[in-house]
Amino acid sequence: MTTQSTESLPLSGKVFAVTGGARGIGAAVCSVLNARGAIAVAFDIDPAAAAGREAIACDVTDETSVKAAFAALHETHGRLDGVVSNAGIMVEKPLAETTMEDFDRVIAINLRGVFLTAKSALPYFRKGMPDAEKPRIVNVASELGHLGRPEYAAYCASKGGVITLTRALARELAPDILVNTLAPGPTDTDMLRAEKNYDSWVKDGEGIPLGRVATAEEVALAAAFLCGPDSRFMTGTIIDVNGGAAMY
Ligand SMILES: NC(=O)c1ccc[n+]([C@@H]2O[C@H](COP(=O)([O-])OP(=O)(O)OC[C@H]3O[C@@H](n4cnc5c(N)ncnc54)[C@H](O)[C@@H]3O)[C@@H](O)[C@H]2O)c1
Repeated sequence: MTTQSTESLPLSGKVFAVTGGARGIGAAVCSVLNARGAIAVAFDIDPAAAAGREAIACDVTDETSVKAAFAALHETHGRLDGVVSNAGIMVEKPLAETTMEDFDRVIAINLRGVFLTAKSALPYFRKGMPDAEKPRIVNVASELGHLGRPEYAAYCASKGGVITLTRALARELAPDILVNTLAPGPTDTDMLRAEKNYDSWVKDGEGIPLGRVATAEEVALAAAFLCGPDSRFMTGTIIDVNGGAAMY
């Protein structure tokens, strides 16, 4: 059996920050980026959950915290090639029961956090790079950012915001930085396990033409594509990883 040297891997030598990278989809993104030769650093409010992987404590709602995390990453690794803005929470409640604290918390993590992460990464990105080497911002939205769903008003609003924020940044930061959205459907993580519909999605793949929910790794593979040289001519796009549950 031949082993591939890390120098020949598509992301060798590159450095990425992955918010919410300690668990779930973010942890899978770190693993796939690592497997392609990159250093992936989890920026997470609970870095201990990253268990043995490289992680920096970071609350994506807090400007001081996010700036400090990028400064620490740059101090250690001396470069930044991209960010995967993945940290998110979900609140499942009818409108009448959703408190303003619920709404503000969801928007703060899922939308303000994506804005703040992009803004704080910007000073570290190199300009004028060849197409395949351009810095990447990959923002994790959700199919619910297109569809809407009863009892997910704050979550859907936050994810719709991420999709439009991505388009605005893609236009503003072109041609130096490529900015794209990943919009997963139901994915088997702690977040999905907390939802009321978990059993019907997981047992029956309800409403999903491919008949099941995604694994975190399947979502991570799309994130790695958006971080890598093969997506060099894509910006402002949405990749829907949802088994066909929503088609546009
Ligand atoms: N699981 C799904 O079905 C699904 C579907 C579509 C989109 N998404 C999106 O994918 C992303 C990841 O979801 P997941 O299922 O892996 O969730 P998860 O709950 O398994 O993991 C979320 C991670 O984010 C971290 N986090 C939470 N608040 C944070 C903060 N303020 N600052 C930094 N880190 C914070 C958590 O500690 C955790 O490590 C989220 O944006 C989510 O909305 C998930």
